[in-house]
Amino acid sequence: MITLKVEGLRYKYPDGTKALNGVNIDVIKGEFLAILGANGSGKTTLLKHLNGLLKPTFGSIILDGKRLSELKPSEVFRKVGMVFQDPNDQLLAPTVEEDVAFGPANLNLKYEEIMNRVMNALELVEMKKYAKKTINFLSYGQRKRTCIAGILAMEPEVLVLDEPTSGLDPDGVKSVMKLLKDLNRKRGITIIIATNSVDLVPVYTTRVVIMDKGKIIKEGTPESVFTDSRMLEDVKLELPQIAQLMEVLRNKDKFPINELPLTIEKARRELINLIKPVTLTVN
Ligand SMILES: Nc1ncnc2c1ncn2[C@@H]1O[C@H](COP(=O)(O)OP(=O)(O)O)[C@@H](O)[C@H]1O
Ligand SMILES: [Mg+2]
Repeated sequence: MITLKVEGLRYKYPDGTKALNGVNIDVIKGEFLAILGANGSGKTTLLKHLNGLLKPTFGSIILDGKRLSELKPSEVFRKVGMVFQDPNDQLLAPTVEEDVAFGPANLNLKYEEIMNRVMNALELVEMKKYAKKTINFLSYGQRKRTCIAGILAMEPEVLVLDEPTSGLDPDGVKSVMKLLKDLNRKRGITIIIATNSVDLVPVYTTRVVIMDKGKIIKEGTPESVFTDSRMLEDVKLELPQIAQLMEVLRNKDKFPINELPLTIEKARRELINLIKPVTLTVN
């Protein structure tokens, strides 16, 4: 089932920059989709169309069978939640709790229901103990989590995040990505992230589209998209580090590897399989 459909989307900024040059995507309900592309490829511009923050110059966005242009903004915000790249662009209220309550308070819910949602959302992002804390005193990672909680409190069907791991330390990256994976797997929330991190894509996402110069140039499972480093270099990306090693072993050292493993675990299994017979003959 298609939840969001992007059809022939073109977008020109007022200064004449053509940021999107005909984008088509079907977002399947329940998937974890990565929009992968170098800086300036059009990821943010595309995401801002998915909840109506930007209006297409040409083309349309269809949400559950209805054009976004025919829906009220409140109907769209309820279903599609957007987490900006920089949490400082999103946080409005003085404290964590007030900020997370901002969205649900605009849904005409009862006070108890609002507070219920706020506490549930803070629990999910592991920020409950900071509920009363002043936003100004939070670390960058805690701000990011507060933003995610604010969107989760709206109970969206689709969660859109622009570069959710940028600016986080390795531990922060892991915990945010694990949270997104859990929300996707356990709660069935459709997740769309924009990223330029090739290492994260095969570990966490089920499908990837590669953007370059405002167009989608490739789409599919990470395995079918990350086939060689040259194609990725053309669009200013590279293979995941572990796949770079496996590609060198294949091309230079003639290891018989068909499909490039993209994660450490898959590479490990492939290498054990390749090395085992050799070790056996030696012994
Ligand atoms: N407000 C704006 N006005 C004019 N041009 C913009 C604006 N925002 C982005 N652009 C341009 O649109 C293109 C796509 O940018 P963006 O969507 O931010 O890419 P990404 O998120 O992949 O880095 C770039 O060429 C960028 O310079
Ligand atoms: Mg961007």
